[in-house]
Amino acid sequence: MSKYLGKLRLGVNIDHVATVRNARGSAYPDPTRAALLAEKAGADGITAHLREDRRHISDGDIDALMEKLTVPLNFEMAATDEMQAIALRHKPHAVCIVPEKREELTTEGGLEVARQENKLAGFIAPLKDAGCRVSLFIASDMAQVEAAARIGADIVELHAGPYCDMFHEGELDASNNELEKLREMSAFGHSLGLEVHAGHGFTYETVMPVAAFLEVMELNIGHFLIGEAIFRGLTPAIKEMRRLMEEART
Ligand code: PXP
Repeated sequence: MSKYLGKLRLGVNIDHVATVRNARGSAYPDPTRAALLAEKAGADGITAHLREDRRHISDGDIDALMEKLTVPLNFEMAATDEMQAIALRHKPHAVCIVPEKREELTTEGGLEVARQENKLAGFIAPLKDAGCRVSLFIASDMAQVEAAARIGADIVELHAGPYCDMFHEGELDASNNELEKLREMSAFGHSLGLEVHAGHGFTYETVMPVAAFLEVMELNIGHFLIGEAIFRGLTPAIKEMRRLMEEART
């Protein structure tokens, strides 16, 4: 199969605008306002994770995003009946299934697809029937990529967290090469006909090597951009990320 040479999309995750809002129980800052600004700044899509405990994004945020966005919404959610019902009500462009543990600070690992193929196949079928693109957030692991393809996922989002963490801890060497795993699994996923995305933990320092993989079509980035917005504003923060992504691609 030929390599995809198209534009690399940036999905901006606005969860942590809601985290700041919820820290004071106020109505601001409004994540939908941030999403609309991100659209103008060049985001190709918006990602929001409605967690079971509603610690950041709320049900009302999803209503507002669905109503106001002009770019696609990538709705992140756990594989629960409650979330499936919400997704089926809204029918967002994409649904990204992530593992979720109540006590975690953020999504810690990838989804275990290989050991629950039948369950997940049944879970995603109605979402696909409703017209949602189904993405599975998985570790860069061959068994998980194969299982995702077998159950009919449209997309795999590869967990970039281990690579980003190792980069920032200065541990990214040949013997422990998380970047290489991302490269190999991007190519492998693409060869199986999956659309390949990557996300979690990207910064200006870590984004370029992954953006350079031609099989990767979308990067989903949140925490760093929202943090960087404190210093330079959301629009310049996003524009700089886009610039680095495009530079890596060329
Ligand atoms: N992709 C997925 C599946 C995620 O769960 C997250 C975090 O919510 C992200 C991307 C964005 O990660 P970060 O906020 O670290 O950029």
